[in-house]
Amino acid sequence: MALRDILIAPHAKLKTKAAPVEAVDDELRRLMDDMLETMYAAPGIGLAAPQVGVMQRLIVLDVAGKDGPPAPMCLVNPEIVARGEDTVVAEEGCLSLPEIYAEVERHARVFVRFTDREGEVREMDTDGLLARCVQHELDHLDGVLFVDHLSALKRKMLLRKLAKLQREKERQTA
Ligand code: NI
Repeated sequence: MALRDILIAPHAKLKTKAAPVEAVDDELRRLMDDMLETMYAAPGIGLAAPQVGVMQRLIVLDVAGKDGPPAPMCLVNPEIVARGEDTVVAEEGCLSLPEIYAEVERHARVFVRFTDREGEVREMDTDGLLARCVQHELDHLDGVLFVDHLSALKRKMLLRKLAKLQREKERQTA
């Protein structure tokens, strides 16, 4: 396993739609392992392949938290096949927008179809943090960031803040 570099916004790949995965093979499983390791090291609860520069429809997540045993999930070609009517607003962050947080409205419940690590097609009924995380990560596969759900003004403000934080970080490590 190896840590991958996480792309930081604004980066063209983060705004690009990813292509479907054609085969779940050992190479893809290596990518899954790298992405999980990178996500845990960050630390984060979800990571999409485009965030490590791989333009394929693959996401990894683990919403178990510190109190439970690790529950890594790898979703290949995930798609939301049904959404509940209710929505819920909660704060989100993203490993590609370090130190930026905002409240985002999401569907409270989503039904997801995906291919698993073994290449089997599966379906999953999600709610709570898992539903939020799935929607956030799936957005990444379509080149959408959580700030894209906000007003243009708010988005501009947060992206400017991110750029400033990144410049400060570069100065510190220079
Ligand atoms: Ni994200």
